[in-house]
Amino acid sequence: MARSTRLVASTATALLLLLLSACSCRAAGDSPSAVVLAVRKDGATGQYLTGFRQRTPQVPVTAVLDLGGGTLWVDCDAGRARFALPTQLAAAFRFSRKFALCLTSTSAAGAVVFGDAPYAFQPGVDLSKSLLYTPLLVNNVSTAGVSGEKDKSNEYFIGVTAIKVNGRAVPLNASLLVIDKQGGGGTKLSTVAPYTVLETSIHKAVTDAFAAETAMIPRVRAVAPFKLCYDGSKVGSTRVGPAVPTVELVLQSEAASWVVFGANSMVAVKGGALCLGVVDGGAAPRTSVVVGGHMMEDNLLEFDLQRSRLGFSSSLLFRQTTCNNFRLG
Ligand SMILES: *[C@@H]1O[C@H](CO)[C@@H](O)[C@H](O)[C@H]1NC(C)=O
Ligand SMILES: *[C@@H]1O[C@H](CO)[C@@H](O)[C@H](O)[C@H]1NC(C)=O
Repeated sequence: MARSTRLVASTATALLLLLLSACSCRAAGDSPSAVVLAVRKDGATGQYLTGFRQRTPQVPVTAVLDLGGGTLWVDCDAGRARFALPTQLAAAFRFSRKFALCLTSTSAAGAVVFGDAPYAFQPGVDLSKSLLYTPLLVNNVSTAGVSGEKDKSNEYFIGVTAIKVNGRAVPLNASLLVIDKQGGGGTKLSTVAPYTVLETSIHKAVTDAFAAETAMIPRVRAVAPFKLCYDGSKVGSTRVGPAVPTVELVLQSEAASWVVFGANSMVAVKGGALCLGVVDGGAAPRTSVVVGGHMMEDNLLEFDLQRSRLGFSSSLLFRQTTCNNFRLG
């Protein structure tokens, strides 16, 4: 125990030293108000990786970004050393416990921004004032297998109240969307799940509704793990990806709705098919809706732990930019 704590502490210290030096070019004398790590998608595994150099000896360390493990956990060396970055960084640099995640869909770098920074993207797009917000919910019971039963979940839950396809509410059992006393149900965000996972009845309802709204587009045989695939050459394209109906996660009000466009709902698979990128999570999963990485790509997500809220931008492609265009300062 003591030994692993030390390992965590020393890894965190190494990271902080690295970040300090990375930030030293900013306003001399002052603590930086934000630090940024580059995040890249690993094509082979679909995981989002971030890298830094560990001192003595100077070796590059690659870590998997895992939203599910705590505040923002970076999971090093396949799970052996974990540390909560926003808390560690906020303590070291005295900035707010807040981070923003901007994942790319390619191997080009996206960013995770800790602390306070304008969300400025080239060319001249500032998203700082245009995010929508929804409360981050506390799940009183941990959903992570490794934690004790009595632990509060450290994962990020949001209050999805309905799902719409092409603006129409999909008929579903709304009680599945509520976190129950045992910590089951509800909606969480996961950077480790490559695609959004839906409880069986929700998956069927969403898939059926999507199929009904796309009856004109020629289908092809489904490619696992997806159930609904189209002939990609017959799907039009738009600035925000394939021309398909929107999928909306309705939150605390109709106005606070996370609208998902083709770039985030459709997945290009081998053979030129385009599939609706939702996966059947079975009849009794712990969590009813797990929003996966693909749905978050080229969206800016701000996890404000101080104010317990999630800020979200919807697709940056609408604004003719991507997560690769984030610029600090
Ligand atoms: C979690 O616990 C708090 C405090 O006991 C309570 O107010 C809240 O309703 C609980 N949340 C859920 C989802 O059960
Ligand atoms: C809706 O889901 C809840 C929670 O899983 C379940 O107890 C209930 O039986 C479901 N209702 C229907 C009509 O399927």
